Amino acid sequence: MSKSRCLDEVTGHWRDIAASCLTANASEIAEAMPMFTTLSMAVGRPGDLSIAQWAHLYALILQYRPDVIVELGRGYGNSTCVFALAAQKLINTRVLSFCLSDDWEQRTVPAIKDLVDDCFFENLQINNGDFTTVSFNELVKPGQRVLLFWDAHGYQVAEFVLSNVMPVFADNEHLIVMHDITDNRYCGMSKSYGDKPFWSSMDEYYRRGTNFYNISWLTGVVDQAIPVLDFCFRNDITLHSADKDVQEQIDPVTRAKLAEQLPPEIFPQLYHWAYFTLNEATGPYHFPPSVQLATVEPTEVQVLAIHEQPAISSKRSSTATLLEGNSAQTNQTMPAASAIWSQKISEAPSVSSVQEALPASDTISAVTRDLNRDCNSSGSPSLLTRMRIAAKFLLNRYPEQ
Ligand SMILES: C[S@@+](CC[C@H](N)C(=O)[O-])C[C@H]1O[C@@H](n2cnc3c(N)ncnc32)[C@H](O)[C@@H]1O
Repeated sequence: MSKSRCLDEVTGHWRDIAASCLTANASEIAEAMPMFTTLSMAVGRPGDLSIAQWAHLYALILQYRPDVIVELGRGYGNSTCVFALAAQKLINTRVLSFCLSDDWEQRTVPAIKDLVDDCFFENLQINNGDFTTVSFNELVKPGQRVLLFWDAHGYQVAEFVLSNVMPVFADNEHLIVMHDITDNRYCGMSKSYGDKPFWSSMDEYYRRGTNFYNISWLTGVVDQAIPVLDFCFRNDITLHSADKDVQEQIDPVTRAKLAEQLPPEIFPQLYHWAYFTLNEATGPYHFPPSVQLATVEPTEVQVLAIHEQPAISSKRSSTATLLEGNSAQTNQTMPAASAIWSQKISEAPSVSSVQEALPASDTISAVTRDLNRDCNSSGSPSLLTRMRIAAKFLLNRYPEQ
C-alpha cells in the first residue's frame, strides 16, 4: 500500500487536510467549544494559541487520527490541552509533550484539574527538559501514525528535527505541523517596512523589533521556516499552508454552512500554521547529518534566553534592556555565579528572599523588581524559578556591583 493511499484512507483528501478537518468535524468543534473556552481562560495565555487555533488543531487531530502526537514546546500548555481533549475522544492516541519549562505542572494543572475529567491526563506523557537531548528512535513504533506539533523555535531546534527526528518518522505515516507561520496572501500584510529594519533572525526580532520576513507566501519571525523550505525542496515535497487550504478548498455553500455552525471567533479565521510530510514523496529522502544529542542540561541562562527573554522583551522593561544585546553571550555557558551567592539564591524559599539574597545594588534590585512585576503574578512557583535564573544571570553580568 503506498504511503499516499494510506493518507487518502485516513483523510479523504489529505492535501487539503487543514480544510477538510474543519468541514468534517464542525459538529465536534461546536460540541467542544465550551470546553475550549473554559480551558483557554484557565490556562491564561490566549496569545500563545487563539481559540480558533484550539478548534482547528482539535479538528485536525480528529481527522488525522494519529497514534502518537509529539508536542515540541508546551509552554503553559494550550496545545497540550487540545491534544489531551482530542486523545480522550480518539481513545488510543498517546500525547508525548516536551518542554523546558515546568509551567504545566506548576500553574496549568492546578488551574485546570477541577475542570476536566480524570481521564484527560491518562494519555498524556509530560517530559521536562531539552528535547534535543532525547533519542526519538524509541518513541514511535513501525506502523504508527505520528503527528508532530512544532512549537519550539530556532535554528538549533530545526537542526535537531530535520536531522534526528525526521529520519525516525520517514517510514511511518506522519504529518509535521509548524506553528507560527502565516500565509501572507490572506493576512493583509503591509508591504511597507515602516521604520523597522528587515528581518534577520528571531533573536533580532525580539532584540530590536525588526519586521516579519516574507519568503514566498510565508510570513513570520521564527527561524525554522528557512531550513524547512530548504528541506522540502531537497525532498520534492511541499510546505503546505493551512490558511490556503481553508481559504481556497472550501466551496461557498459549505463555507456558508460552516459559518452558521461555528461562531465567528472560530470560522472564518486565519490559523497560522504550515505542514509537510515526507509521505508525499517516494524518496530517496535527504536529511542533514544527524547531530549529536546534547548531553548536558541547558544552562539556566539558556533557559532564560529561550523561554523568558521574548516574553520579557516584549514588555520593554528595563530588564529587557539589560538582557538585550546579550543573545550571543546567553547562548554560551557562562561562568557560574559566585558560589556563595549562587547557593543563597538556590536555597531562597521565596521571590522576596531571592531579592534579599542578592548583594545590595540599585541596579540589581531595580531589575529584579522589574522582573517580578513583568513576570507578574500571583505567587506562581515558577516565578521563583525565574527569579533564581535571572538573579544568577545578573550576578554573572554585574559581578562588581
Ligand atoms: C511558544 S511556547 C509553546 C506554546 C504552547 N505550544 C501552547 O500552545 O501554549 C514554546 C516553548 O518551547 C520551549 N522550548 C524551546 N526550545 C526547547 C527545547 N530545546 N527543548 C524543550 N523545550 C523547548 C520553550 O521553553 C517554550 O516554553
